[in-house]
Amino acid sequence: MPATAPRKILVTSALPYANGSLHLGHLLEQVQTDIWVRFQKSRGHDCTYVCADDAHGTAIMLTAEKLGITPQQQIDSIRREHERDSAGFLIGFDNFHTTHSPENRYWCEEIYRRLKDNGHIATRAIIQSFDPEKRLFLADRFIKGTCPRCKTGDQYGDNCEACGATYSPGELIDPVSAISGATPVEKESTHFFFKLPELEEMLRGWLDSGTLQPQVANKLREWTEAGLQEWDISRDAPYFGFEIPGEPDKYFYVWLDAPIGYIASFAHYCERTGHDFDSYWQPGHDTELYHFIGKDIINFHGLFWPAMLHSAGLRTPTAIFAHGFLTVNGTKMSKSRGTFINAGTYLEHLDAEYLRYYFAAKLGATMDDIDLNLEDFVLRVNSDVVGKIVNIASRCAGFLRKGFDNRLTDSCAEAAMVEEFIAAGEDIAQRYEQREFSRAIREIVALADRANQYIDDRKPWALAKRDGMAQEVHDICSVGINLFRVLMTYLKPVLPAMAAKAETFLNTSLDWTALSRPLLAHPLAEFQPLITRIDPRQVEAMVEVSREAATDPNTR
Ligand code: MSP
Ligand code: ZN
Repeated sequence: MPATAPRKILVTSALPYANGSLHLGHLLEQVQTDIWVRFQKSRGHDCTYVCADDAHGTAIMLTAEKLGITPQQQIDSIRREHERDSAGFLIGFDNFHTTHSPENRYWCEEIYRRLKDNGHIATRAIIQSFDPEKRLFLADRFIKGTCPRCKTGDQYGDNCEACGATYSPGELIDPVSAISGATPVEKESTHFFFKLPELEEMLRGWLDSGTLQPQVANKLREWTEAGLQEWDISRDAPYFGFEIPGEPDKYFYVWLDAPIGYIASFAHYCERTGHDFDSYWQPGHDTELYHFIGKDIINFHGLFWPAMLHSAGLRTPTAIFAHGFLTVNGTKMSKSRGTFINAGTYLEHLDAEYLRYYFAAKLGATMDDIDLNLEDFVLRVNSDVVGKIVNIASRCAGFLRKGFDNRLTDSCAEAAMVEEFIAAGEDIAQRYEQREFSRAIREIVALADRANQYIDDRKPWALAKRDGMAQEVHDICSVGINLFRVLMTYLKPVLPAMAAKAETFLNTSLDWTALSRPLLAHPLAEFQPLITRIDPRQVEAMVEVSREAATDPNTR
């Protein structure tokens, strides 16, 4: 690799809501982000990955109430669960924080003050539905009633699941509060708005700058061309969040403080480690900032967030990377089919690296949905990881141990082939950089096929039985181990635990930066099994447990 200065990169995944468990959809995002981060680190860059729980909002307040605990207890216990599950999937956060933190309060107040000083905050009274029993303003999704078009009962306040009509909650027939069952009344209250239209020019420039994925930029242009609206950033008490300074009983809307949570988590990381905060958030530095998100939240990250940052005099993201949704067996994850799989449930049955590999094999740089086909999952992982990659090492290791004291040859019998494998790394690195993981995997597996073909052709197991062929066997197996080492270097971002075991066996670092020439006269450690095949029964058991959890009234 050219000896250029390391890039300074800050990366985030979307902050999961603290009112529920992580499921495999969340993990698709975290795995995508983590692979990219590990790749950057392996290439020698200074890359920091931060995340947090998104701890505020009405839903979390109501969940805590239902459970008979305080919101603080609710977010603390969910946070422990989220951290455990992400760690189980080998997600290497440099910092995992919460939006209910002093750092986040500080930055929310600071950014709000700057927006206000710039004249970008408007105040006016609006009329909303109000639950007179709970004494709570009701967001559309907390109002239910009969669809004004098809007359189906029990529909949400903004759209009908039966006929697809969209409407405002005021149009529902016989509306009731989904929280108390009371009939909502109309009530006036003062709200605070971020004057997005005043940042229209800045946003146009941002959308046209070419840093967004084309699909994302197009989607966002539809919104801007329809005319930007002022964005309501306040909510009335009772609310679990931060009070707006100087405005008693008015709270910052959760979507205002959530992205600021990226800044807050990084600030917390800098306090802990002495990393330089300012060069990442003040404009005019050569640091890079990337947000990995799902396609459902691109308006918040692609419009509101950059506008807020700009108004507050902070840097805007280098890019937003939006991914599609996870489907299982071709359809939306479904509780009754047992395909709504929680992260914790998966980990009780299967190794995280199987899914990391499968996701990598399917992920591209677009917003297209990703399907986890459970049958294909078993076949693919068993065939590629166990049958092709690990197979290279396990075929060679035994001979090296028995006949050659676990030591590789002094010179490489197939130097050209090993060099070719190493040279292929630049193209594979490009694929990783562009988030074309499926293409990276395809190229790696094609190389693995070549490595296996080489061993098949030379048949060390046959040569080992003949006299005078010891040098041949030693040569072939040393080449095989060298090829394995190159491939594991390329796979380390995807399979970090397996790579760590391979590093012990190979007695060398599998960082990309450590890869320049074949290992010669190199001592190996004892070979240990790297990963086992998936037994389809493990998958069946996981689906069964997920189905049962969905029908158990205690866990619904
Ligand atoms: N709390 C907000 C994000 C705030 S970011 C400042 C939120 N939370 S979430 O828990 O609903 O989702 C977290 C991330 O997971 C989002 O990027 C979302 O798109 C992603 N996913 C949630 N379900 C998903 C799938 N089924 N498939 C893929 N990603 C999905 O949104
Ligand atoms: Zn309807």
